[in-house]
Amino acid sequence: NKFKVIIVTGVPGVGKTTVLSVLQEKAKASNIKLKVLNFGTFMLETALKEKLVNNRDELRHLTLRKQLDLQQLAAKRIIEETLKDLDENGYLIIDTHAIVKTSSGYLPGLPKHVLDELKPDMITVIEADAKEIFNRQVKDSSRNRSDFGTEKDIEKLMEYARMASFSSAVHYASTVAIITNKENKANEAAEELLQFIQKL
Ligand code: AP5
Repeated sequence: NKFKVIIVTGVPGVGKTTVLSVLQEKAKASNIKLKVLNFGTFMLETALKEKLVNNRDELRHLTLRKQLDLQQLAAKRIIEETLKDLDENGYLIIDTHAIVKTSSGYLPGLPKHVLDELKPDMITVIEADAKEIFNRQVKDSSRNRSDFGTEKDIEKLMEYARMASFSSAVHYASTVAIITNKENKANEAAEELLQFIQKL
């Protein structure tokens, strides 16, 4: 890819989408060409068309084979869609997951077949205190994140997500950046991310 590819991961409810909307405002103010795409939205579009799910929270409960098909197609479509918009000065930011808690075990969000399409320059792991994430999941009534369990379960998932991010980074020599999204400090997290990507 001519443009830079930045993958942004983090456990459900950590605030990825929130941080990325602040990042978009910052990039606009600094004239930086940046496109943010949500991986789950691409998977959802196909799954809705095929009448497999009613919402994005049902995706991780589909059969493994189906999730892998949707995952591969999403990665392909994301790159196809970006090729027409971004040149070598542009940044593609992908809002996704390094690990997905599915009904058949923990699924890597960035396995080799996905990385071969995306070829990321950087994989970002957004983190926060497990207690804060738990509260954000509970407060966000627009989503069903009820099967992520206790604070301890969230801590465990964060540990797996870090391991998965570093494993995925090996394939294309992507850097890994760990950024904390502290309570009411999404602006600081977005600023840190902006500093990182400008050095790629
Ligand atoms: P996705 O849409 O990414 O769902 P998600 O994990 O729930 O992530 P969100 O984007 O909804 O949460 P978030 O971390 O961005 O938090 P938010 O900013 O909303 O994925 C959907 C599904 O797609 C996955 O479950 C999976 O099945 C599938 N999928 C995706 N990628 C895949 C892949 N690569 N392979 C296979 N499957 C894949 O914030 C949450 C709340 O916290 C909000 O209320 C917000 O206001 C609040 N908040 C945020 N930041 C702060 C802060 N600093 N202080 C206080 N409150 C805050």
